[in-house]
Amino acid sequence: MGYVLGPVETWQSPPAAHVDSIAVLPEMQHQCIGSRLIESFMQQIRLLGCEVVILEVSPANKIGLAFFARYGFRKLHRLRNYYGKGLHGLLMAARCNPAQLNESDEWDQ
Ligand SMILES: CC(C)(COP(=O)(O)OP(=O)(O)OC[C@H]1O[C@@H](n2cnc3c(N)ncnc32)[C@H](O)[C@@H]1OP(=O)(O)O)[C@@H](O)C(=O)NCCC(=O)NCCS
Repeated sequence: MGYVLGPVETWQSPPAAHVDSIAVLPEMQHQCIGSRLIESFMQQIRLLGCEVVILEVSPANKIGLAFFARYGFRKLHRLRNYYGKGLHGLLMAARCNPAQLNESDEWDQ
């Protein structure tokens, strides 16, 4: 019904986490499955010692942007031609510590 996929580079200090992809079957969306997947992912990477998690998303993906914002992801910068010529991406990052999710910091700018 859904999955979240992403590597953790445990040889880095602190370990670096990346969300490659997260998706829920269209007919199963809006039932908090995506929320449970990303919360579980965040919990696992915290246990591995990650402080920050990053991902790339299309600025046209309004649902994805709203979803990731809810989990503390902030836009870092635009990735020019990331999805092909003229198709830019957005690099987003979130702190893994839930206490910091609502903090206003340089990522909000
Ligand atoms: C993004 C995705 C994984 C969310 O999964 P989901 O199971 O529907 O998400 P949830 O039911 O847990 O919703 C959590 C929150 O995400 C946001 N959200 C989810 N669907 C939304 C929609 N259609 N419009 C606006 N916000 C939405 C809301 O903030 C929502 O909270 P709310 O229900 O209290 O308003 C799902 O829409 C999906 O698979 N999309 C296609 C793949 C994709 O774009 N992945 C991200 C890029 S890799």
